[in-house]
Amino acid sequence: MGYALSAEPQPRIVEVGPRDGLQNESAVVSAEKKAAFVDALAKTGLKEIETGAFVSPQAVPQMADTAEVFAKIQRRPGVVYSALVPNQKGLERAMQAGADKISVFTAASETFNQKNIRASISESIERFRPVIRETKAARLPLRAYISTAFHCPYEGPVKPVAVLPIVKTLMGLGVDELSIGDTIGKASPRDVRSLLKPLLDIVPVEKLFLHFHDTYGMAIANALTAWREFGVTGFDSSTGGLGGCPYAPGASGNIATEDLVFALSAEGADMGIDIEKLTAAARALVPSLGHPLDSRLSRVASTGRHS
Ligand code: COA
Ligand code: ZN
Repeated sequence: MGYALSAEPQPRIVEVGPRDGLQNESAVVSAEKKAAFVDALAKTGLKEIETGAFVSPQAVPQMADTAEVFAKIQRRPGVVYSALVPNQKGLERAMQAGADKISVFTAASETFNQKNIRASISESIERFRPVIRETKAARLPLRAYISTAFHCPYEGPVKPVAVLPIVKTLMGLGVDELSIGDTIGKASPRDVRSLLKPLLDIVPVEKLFLHFHDTYGMAIANALTAWREFGVTGFDSSTGGLGGCPYAPGASGNIATEDLVFALSAEGADMGIDIEKLTAAARALVPSLGHPLDSRLSRVASTGRHS
């Protein structure tokens, strides 16, 4: 324990800061600054960056300029630039912008889904059935998010029995990858174990990503539990710990990528990601955000206590 054997599957990170992070920031960040952020992230060793969302601009004004961001980034070979889409219109826009990979999303809680996308869980799946078909026809890889898979801000604890049928449906539709979200950051390692036990009976571990927010400070513990106890290697995170959730009052941002990379490396993972470059990428955004970063490593850096 505490060191990585070379044969051991290593953790992989999908950086979601430019999308899940920035969509939940109240400040308006220009397309130019967003593209600079994405470019800086691509130089850290990250292999996949969710670059934006092609959703309704009325629903999420912060993502209205995602096409511009895609046009401005300097694509780095070997890096996947993905996009979130809610419907066929979003898919068309994403393909036009040259997204390398498509993400669709639903939630395990009916109330959350209604507030987020004005649809029930089954309506949302019906809505993205053609999106999945067209994405596959275009031979683009496909990810599906299930939000509020542990706790819902409106309905409280979400049981694994509510999550599993959605997972089965999505796997049946042929998604390449699932991201299971603790949208309000309230899950504990115990919740993670309760869900992973039945989940890994129906999803191959390499297709599974966990998406933790850090509201109650448990995201790192959850990630380490999933990796060490269950061999889960896929994690979503946001550099700088950006974000929150407009439909989940009080929820803090995603687990910060730099904190996650630090924790996994300390636990023996070979991440190949430059933490200094991550914190620098986030720091460059601070003047646009109007508040200090919410990651532990950025606090360490700003007090100079790490030296
Ligand atoms: N891109 C751009 N515009 C879009 C769009 C898309 N993907 N999908 C819908 N729109 C526009 C429509 O053209 C329409 O515009 P109009 O009023 O000028 O005619 C308007 O949005 C409403 O469209 P409608 O199909 O009735 O959607 P809706 O109002 O029921 O909203 C969603 C449904 C899913 C499109 C919307 O709630 C949404 O985009 N939600 C995203 C939420 C999100 O990103 N959450 C974070 C991820 S977890
Ligand atoms: Zn999230």
